Amino acid sequence: MTMKIALNAQQVAPNLSAKYIYLRAIETSDFPAIKAYRQDPENCRYIRPAESDAKTMEIVEQLSQPWHFSVGHWNGLAICLQSDHSLVGEIAFRIEDWQNQRAELGYRLSGEVAGQGIGTEAANLLVDYLFQELGFFKLMARCDPRNIASFRIMEKLGFIREAFFKQHYLIGGEWTDQYDYGLLFNTWLARHHHKTSTNHYS
Ligand SMILES: CC(C)(COP(=O)(O)OP(=O)(O)OC[C@H]1O[C@@H](n2cnc3c(N)ncnc32)[C@H](O)[C@@H]1OP(=O)(O)O)[C@@H](O)C(=O)NCCC(=O)NCCS
Repeated sequence: MTMKIALNAQQVAPNLSAKYIYLRAIETSDFPAIKAYRQDPENCRYIRPAESDAKTMEIVEQLSQPWHFSVGHWNGLAICLQSDHSLVGEIAFRIEDWQNQRAELGYRLSGEVAGQGIGTEAANLLVDYLFQELGFFKLMARCDPRNIASFRIMEKLGFIREAFFKQHYLIGGEWTDQYDYGLLFNTWLARHHHKTSTNHYS
């Protein structure tokens, strides 16, 4: 199994659709909606302190670019509701290790829509795309162990908790622990086949 993309290639961000949400390219006009949750202290609690307007704009501009497949570069998608097309969050990935076909996932959702399964639906869409269309061998996701909603999303998608690091990073002056979760292509494929065959015969 090899990567289906070339290192340093560019690609227009895809549109991916599920029952309640869809993912689309981020645009600079999304700034107000993105700023609303990125600058909400509760949303930032387990990530890093809220950013300034200038920093948020810089991130929105960077995430609005076409996807670029270089190591460490975050490629994002807006999470939008099917019902009214409002932007309720973002989901992103970066190549962590090209040789070993490994990427890292990250997601942020507005507190206004928390607890409705939207984070899980968005992560499921991107995970499928990364394995199926881009050819990654392994996906990683990391979080603060207090961020239960975040690691529950990973567990619901079949990610396994592979590591626990003590006081691993600094959030606003506080040394914070970290969980690392991993999902292998073969694990995803087995679950995917199971889902498909269950749907087929039920
Ligand atoms: C983390 C986040 C993306 C979760 O999104 P979400 O749409 O609320 O998640 P879901 O509704 O899909 O729920 C996922 C699971 O977490 C559980 N959950 C949600 N909030 C929870 C909480 N406060 N405590 C315990 N479990 C919680 C849900 O019940 C669900 O599990 P279940 O189906 O077994 O019940 C969202 O809360 C968020 O953006 N937070 C701020 C940014 C952030 O921390 N991002 C992640 C950085 S690692």
